[in-house]
Amino acid sequence: MSFDDAPIDPISADRLEQAGLELRLVDRADTAAFEAWLQADSRGFHGPADEPERLAEVREHAPSRRVTGVYDAQGLIDEPVGTTQSWVAPLTLPGGAAVPLWSIASVTVAPTHRRRGIARALLESELRTAAAEGVPIAGLTASETVLYGRYGFGVATIGENTEIETKRVRWTGPDAPGRTRFVDPAALLPDALAIIDRARAVQPGGIRYDDFMVGLATGLYGRDRAQVRTVRYDDAEGVPQGFASYTLTGNPADFTKHLVTVRWLVGATDEATAALWRFLLELDLVATVRAIERPVDEPVNWQLGDLRAAKRTPKDRLWLRILDLPAVLEARRYAAPATIALEVDDPLEFAAGRFLLEAGSDGIGRVKPLAGEVPQGAASLALPISELSATVLGGIAPTTLARAGRITERTPGAALTLERTFAAERTPWLMLEF
Ligand SMILES: CC(C)(COP(=O)(O)OP(=O)(O)OC[C@H]1O[C@@H](n2cnc3c(N)ncnc32)[C@H](O)[C@@H]1OP(=O)(O)O)[C@@H](O)C(=O)NCCC(=O)NCCS
Repeated sequence: MSFDDAPIDPISADRLEQAGLELRLVDRADTAAFEAWLQADSRGFHGPADEPERLAEVREHAPSRRVTGVYDAQGLIDEPVGTTQSWVAPLTLPGGAAVPLWSIASVTVAPTHRRRGIARALLESELRTAAAEGVPIAGLTASETVLYGRYGFGVATIGENTEIETKRVRWTGPDAPGRTRFVDPAALLPDALAIIDRARAVQPGGIRYDDFMVGLATGLYGRDRAQVRTVRYDDAEGVPQGFASYTLTGNPADFTKHLVTVRWLVGATDEATAALWRFLLELDLVATVRAIERPVDEPVNWQLGDLRAAKRTPKDRLWLRILDLPAVLEARRYAAPATIALEVDDPLEFAAGRFLLEAGSDGIGRVKPLAGEVPQGAASLALPISELSATVLGGIAPTTLARAGRITERTPGAALTLERTFAAERTPWLMLEF
């Protein structure tokens, strides 16, 4: 189902209008308007002004999205001063069920128009539109961590920026029985999509990626595609089970110390993931392999033969924002039975209120509004929607948030009960930034 033409949120539109600004949907079929929007998006992140060839590539291959712009009637050029785009993709929850995720990207405000509330209007507009369309949760990745908590988003997955000194590595992982081979990114695409689908099905925090996003990450599209190399791992039966894309930065001062930057590495099996890592770590003339925002529980760290060969720096990755609390909590599965009363504070009112979650021994949870007293024996907590959104995938520990003063225990030990009940089978991870 497409939400691309979902109506503009009247509250944000009114607010912007009072400031002499217009919020509107951008018609991708209107080449001039869409290209002006793309240029504003790129400039918003201090990117280059794009060449016609690149703009044509995006127009031709990028999937349909809900594209919005904010326009200044007094502006000298017909370029938006604010941009966002959004789309809906399935998000894997603990236990393997998926819910539709309202994914938000390209949030920019022109430096000439900053700090006048344009981003707030855009973000609130996205959330109200998602809720009006019945999408239960929204998500994004952030350029800065200080931006999105105010709208009820919380950090739900951590990625580790990893830098491995390859000369220290003595591979201790298993030998892979399959084959790693170079592949052309166009030929890889269908295999990559199938591998990603199998990988995300068992990965809480996994989402579906469209052809264009996969193509950008594997060198099929994008400004720097000529620099990207792509390999695929096939298992002993010849079935493609993983792929990696990477770029190489030469070190002219020392030819044995080149740098490899992993663009993306996905394995549908642990065997494939290990084989691809090993391939990268054993490249001749390379001293350093860098990878961006890898899973916290990445097995390769235990296959290097020297844990300190890898320097790992945690970074917030997927930010989530629950809009429909019962829908999300009833979709995920639970690791332990419990009855938990949640008193949720939500500045934008989507999910505010008191709820009772009853997680059964079959892993299924039921949520109902809580009107009276907290039932005898229930764990009870008060928390902002941002903290519930952070913990919902099981990757951020409620006990830590309680100790940090961000969750309030109404009954002793309630945060630990929440933690054990919310625990995921695998540390949640967003496979690719969006
Ligand atoms: C980040 C950005 C979108 C903010 O746009 P903006 O229109 O200036 O933001 P607003 O005026 O709506 O500010 C809303 C709130 O966020 C705060 N805020 C905005 N940008 C901030 C920043 N960089 N650091 C800290 N706080 C910030 C504002 O102070 C305001 O706070 P309040 O709710 O307490 O009043 C804009 O600066 C930008 O385009 N930056 C470069 C691109 C980028 O990083 N985009 C985010 C992509 S994830």
